Amino acid sequence: MKKDQVTSYWKKLEKENLDMCASPTLFRLLKINGAKFISKNVLDVGFGEGQNLIEFQKRGANIFGIELRKSKIKKILKNTKIKKSNFFNCDLNISFPRVKKKFDIIYTLDTLNYLTDKNQFIFFEKCCKILKKNGFFVIHYPQTQLINKRKSKDLFNYNISNNYKKSYFFGKDNPIIFLNKNKIQKLIKFYNTKLKILSSIFDINTVSKSNSSKLTINRFILFKKII
Ligand SMILES: C[S@@+](CC[C@H](N)C(=O)[O-])C[C@H]1O[C@@H](n2cnc3c(N)ncnc32)[C@H](O)[C@@H]1O
Repeated sequence: MKKDQVTSYWKKLEKENLDMCASPTLFRLLKINGAKFISKNVLDVGFGEGQNLIEFQKRGANIFGIELRKSKIKKILKNTKIKKSNFFNCDLNISFPRVKKKFDIIYTLDTLNYLTDKNQFIFFEKCCKILKKNGFFVIHYPQTQLINKRKSKDLFNYNISNNYKKSYFFGKDNPIIFLNKNKIQKLIKFYNTKLKILSSIFDINTVSKSNSSKLTINRFILFKKII
């Protein structure tokens, strides 16, 4: 089943340690739309290496996180010296943790796309419950991936439309549950009495470790809780 594939895929990456830095797009998106960080409660769902939470902590926020991989919880505890009870180890395809706090900002980067369709709805529902009125909710997911199959020896011979083709989404072992237009529109429509879209923007990243053969285009959607 897809959800078992997700769990085993990430468990295999339990020991992987990536060098990451915080997402400028996330911080710019929130700031431009009026978010404040000092003394605010911020929850990162699927925080991975924790680079964005660490940036929020630097900016004065109280940080909280949810993660499937125990090693990532250990890592963030070591790096932030925050109390253990701020972090929840759970598989969101099985259940959402019991979180008693209310949050000013909840965000999830490249993680919603590892939840099954049903659990994506549950995720929205639970986040709405623990988000304060006027709180910010950010989702981010890969919109598409472009592949460059013809490797050029000339590093400067790059033209996105010539070199890259939209040919597939991610490697065969990656159990990504792609959020296509229909799915995302259903989610947005279902929650539109609670969440209002403020902005939607893109950023681009390379996922390949040592070459420039893949470009991922990610969509960010920023919502505000209206009731
Ligand atoms: C692609 S990584 C993104 C990490 C981080 N948000 C970032 O942007 O760098 C996806 C993260 O979600 C976590 N994850 C995947 N499936 C999950 C699930 N079912 N429940 C909880 N966390 C999950 C993984 O362990 C991983 O850290």
